[in-house]
Amino acid sequence: MDTNLNEIDTVRLNDAGDAIEIIDQTLLPEKIEVLSLSDQHDIWHAINLLQVRGAPAIGITAGFALYLAAREIAGEMICDSPDHVTRDLFFEKLREAKDYLNSSRPTAVNLSWALNRVENVATDFAQNNKNCNCDMIKELVELMKNEALDIYNEDIEVCKKIGEYALTLVKKGDGLITHCNAGKLATVRYGTATSVMYLGQERGYDLKIYCDETRPLLQGARLTAFELASSGMDVTLLCDNMSASLMKTGGIKAAFVGCDRVAANGDAANKIGTSMLALAAKRNNIPFYVCAPTSTIDMSTPTGKDIVIEQRDGSEVTDMWYKHPMSPKGIKVYNPAFDVTEADLITGIITENGIFKPGDLPL
Ligand code: MRU
Repeated sequence: MDTNLNEIDTVRLNDAGDAIEIIDQTLLPEKIEVLSLSDQHDIWHAINLLQVRGAPAIGITAGFALYLAAREIAGEMICDSPDHVTRDLFFEKLREAKDYLNSSRPTAVNLSWALNRVENVATDFAQNNKNCNCDMIKELVELMKNEALDIYNEDIEVCKKIGEYALTLVKKGDGLITHCNAGKLATVRYGTATSVMYLGQERGYDLKIYCDETRPLLQGARLTAFELASSGMDVTLLCDNMSASLMKTGGIKAAFVGCDRVAANGDAANKIGTSMLALAAKRNNIPFYVCAPTSTIDMSTPTGKDIVIEQRDGSEVTDMWYKHPMSPKGIKVYNPAFDVTEADLITGIITENGIFKPGDLPL
């Protein structure tokens, strides 16, 4: 029997609490395969290679990964050492694990946000339990697991709320455009930018969805078109350079995209090509909405210019999807994974707490 994408979480902790399960997104849409990972190096690679990707899903994975690292460190502890030695060693190794996981990708702030949340549980515990011994550390590991599970459960609710707010902005029969994948595959279930589409479908809105294919890794074609079509939506795929032409036909009423980090001034980093879509939307008087859980808003980064943009290997552009070379051997390649859409191009930022002007963020 075919596996139904909608029946599997993009990322979850297994029932035994000793591994995470992720849908391997590098194999989609051809094959739906679930990977079970417990080792922090394997999880680091899964994030780095985009087997699990999209800002919220990266954060949820990292939260579970730090709990799993704590579990492993606690399991290896020699409990007959003096308590302070045991405790110091646990915290030293935990900090190393956190720094390591945090280096898996640079742009999505949800990664450090989730790691900080799970680490803070440990830091608070240590402050309140100055003499914490081996048994207490095992208790702490359970608390870290609960925090990671909270992040996972909150994501489901947050995405639904974003969808509810977004739905107030659309009308029955509207054509909506999106870029990259800010869908179920970038979160646990509903997605951020796609939540409006799932809710619209449930409520008979008859929306027409247009997905940019999203060069070079094709998250729009391989992931968004796949997940929305699997749900029975009316989806049309276009190349990234076709959106301006489509907008001129009058068929697009709004653009909804996700994001990896919103700076304090409302600039938003998202998949490369997002700013091009925003420019085309502005020119054609089409509202451009960025869907962002508050975990994606980073008030410590003043502007988009301060956001670190991941640069990826040129072979993704020259070789990855081709049977034969499509460019001269050795050609120089420009391959940033994200770009920044300036606040003045953004009509509204949709969070779980409401819709905000980019210059008036809720934090
Ligand atoms: O490189 P990716 O696939 O992780 O990039 C993902 C995006 O740019 C998404 O739009 C963003 O993370 C928001 S996901 C809700």
